[in-house]
Amino acid sequence: NGSKGKAARGLRFTPVAPNTDDKVTVPDGYDQNVVIRWGDPILRGAPAFDPENQTAKAQAGQFGYNNDFLSLLPLHGEFGGRRRQLMVANHEYSDENLMFRRYDPENPTREQFEIALAAHGLSVVVVEETRRGNGLTAVPRHHLNRRLTATSTFRLTGPAAGSKYLRTSADPTGRKVLGTLNNCAGGTTPWGTTLHGEENFNQYFANGSSATDKRYGLGSGPTERKWERFDKRFDARQEPNESHRHGWVVELDPYDPDSTPRKRTALGRFKHEAAQPRLTDDGRPVVYMGDDERFDYFYKFVSSRRMKKGNSRAAREHNLTLLDEGTLYVAKLTGDSPTTEIDGTGKLPADGEFDGSGIWIPLATGDKSHVPGMTAEEVYVFTRLAGDKVGATKMDRPEDVEPSPRTGRVYVALTNNTDRGKAGKAGADEANPRNANKHGQILELAEHRNDASATRFAWSLFLVAGDPDDPSTYFAGFPKDRVSPISCPDNVAFDPHGNLWISTDGNKLGSHDGLFGVAVSGDRRGELKQFLTVPIGAETCGPVIQSERVLVAVQHPGETDGASVEKPASVWPDGPGRIVRPSVVSVWRKDGCDIGV
Ligand code: FEO
Ligand code: CA
Ligand code: CA
Ligand code: CA
Repeated sequence: NGSKGKAARGLRFTPVAPNTDDKVTVPDGYDQNVVIRWGDPILRGAPAFDPENQTAKAQAGQFGYNNDFLSLLPLHGEFGGRRRQLMVANHEYSDENLMFRRYDPENPTREQFEIALAAHGLSVVVVEETRRGNGLTAVPRHHLNRRLTATSTFRLTGPAAGSKYLRTSADPTGRKVLGTLNNCAGGTTPWGTTLHGEENFNQYFANGSSATDKRYGLGSGPTERKWERFDKRFDARQEPNESHRHGWVVELDPYDPDSTPRKRTALGRFKHEAAQPRLTDDGRPVVYMGDDERFDYFYKFVSSRRMKKGNSRAAREHNLTLLDEGTLYVAKLTGDSPTTEIDGTGKLPADGEFDGSGIWIPLATGDKSHVPGMTAEEVYVFTRLAGDKVGATKMDRPEDVEPSPRTGRVYVALTNNTDRGKAGKAGADEANPRNANKHGQILELAEHRNDASATRFAWSLFLVAGDPDDPSTYFAGFPKDRVSPISCPDNVAFDPHGNLWISTDGNKLGSHDGLFGVAVSGDRRGELKQFLTVPIGAETCGPVIQSERVLVAVQHPGETDGASVEKPASVWPDGPGRIVRPSVVSVWRKDGCDIGV
C-alpha cells in the first residue's frame, strides 16, 4: 500500500499511480527541475537554441538529442567545489520528424544530415546545485564541457584494433573511426571513466549483403535516414567494413577534455546496451554487458590487469589500459525445473522458483580464440557468431546489467520478446519463462563464491514483470497486492541504500513509462514502487540515484506514430507552441531530506 515508514529505507515515498499525463509526475512532497534540454548551448561560442534556424555548427556546441545514459562524477578543487559535478550523457539517436519543421523523409537535406550527425554522440557538462532545493542546473562554457558527435575522432584499441575487418578506404590502419552512433546505456568505472554502449548501429548502414551483415541486422536496401546519399561510409556496398567499426563499448575519460575516446575491441561487438564493471577481490575489472536483441546473449569481460588506485597520472594512464586485455565470456543458463510448467500459464516452476545454474563460456583471450573455426579477431568483430557457435542461451533482449555494489549479485534487465515461442523460434525456458513475452523480467545472478571472475554462477528471476493481477508475474515472492505494475524494464541502477531502481521503455500496460525502486534484500525484497512517470511517447533513461536527488533522462518525448513539429503529440517540457525537447530532469524532496528515507 506504499504507506511511508513501512517500506525499505530509500523507498519511503507514496508511489506514483500509473497515468498518461504529458508531464513528469513525481511523488507527493517531491519537486523537479529540467537540468538541460536538447539544444542548450554548452560549449563556448555555441548559440542559443533556435529550432527554426538550426545549423550543424550550432548543434555541435549544444546538448545533443535523445539523452539516454547519464553518469554523475565528482569534481574536486579548482574544477568544482562541493556544489558541482560532472555529468556525462549519451545521445542515442536523432528523430528528424520531431527536430525539423520541414523534413521530407524521402529527401533529407545535407544540412539536416549534418545536424543529425552532430545531435548524436556524447555530452560532458558540468552541473551545479540550484539555489533552491536539490535540483541541478548546467554550467555552460565550463572548460570540461565537451561534445562528441558522429564525426568526432575515436580510436579502436585492444586485440582487434587494426584488423583487416576494420580497415576502410578512409582509414587503412583500422584504428581511427569517425564518430559513435546509437549510444544507449552505459556505465561508470571505479577509475573515473564512463562506458557507452553502441547499440542499434545497423540502422545507419545501407545495402548490407554479407552473412555477418545479416546477423547484425543491416538491411539490404536503403536506410530510413538515407545518410548513404551524403557519405559513402554509410553504404555497406561501397565500404563493407565501416559498420564493423560500430557496435563497440566506448570508454571516455571525461576529466580530460583533450582525450580521444576509445572503442574497446576486447569487449566484443554486438548491440551493446550498456556496460557496468565491478572489481574482483584482487582489483581486476569485470564488465557485464547485454546484447539488446530478441534471442541474443549476455556477456562478461574479465580483465587480466589490476586497477591502480589514486589519481596520479601514472595510475590514470595504467587504468586506461584495463579494458584492452582479458577474456570475453558469454552466458549459458540451465533451469532446474521441468519447462512444461512455466510456458506462460502463470504457474511457478515445480520447485517454486524460476532458477538454475549457469556457466560463462570463454570466447577469446587476447589473440587466442576459444571458439573452434573462428580466429580471435573474428570473435571480437563478429561476437554474435561466436555466441551462436558455443550455444549461448538465447535471452529476451538483454538490456542494462548492474552488479549490486553491496552484495555483488548482478541484475540483468530482459525487456521483452514478443517472438518467443513463435514458429521456428526458441520457446519459453525457465530464465525466459513466457512465450510472446510483452513485459519482460529481471534476472538475478550470483557468481560462484561471489567471485566476479568465476566461470559458473547461480541465477534466479527476481521479477517477472506485468500487471500484478496477471498470474504469470512474480515479484521475488512479495505479496502482489502491494506492488506497482511494471512493464519492459530497461535501465537499472542502485541507490546508496542498496535498492535497485528500474526505468522502463515501452510499457505495454496502457500507461506511460517510468522509474521504479525495489529492495533486493531484507523482508521488503520484491516490494516494487513507482517513483515517477514520463510524458507522452517518452522512455525513462539513465537513472542516477543519489542521496539528495534522482536524475533521469526523458528520452524521445512526443515520439508517436505520425507526430511531427507541426502536429506534436507532446508539449513537454516547455508547453504549447514550443518544440518538444528531450531533456534531463532532477527530482528532490521538498523538505530537503534524502530520497525515500
Ligand atoms: Fe536503446 Fe536497448 O535500448
Ligand atoms: Ca526452478
Ligand atoms: Ca535502453
Ligand atoms: Ca545501469
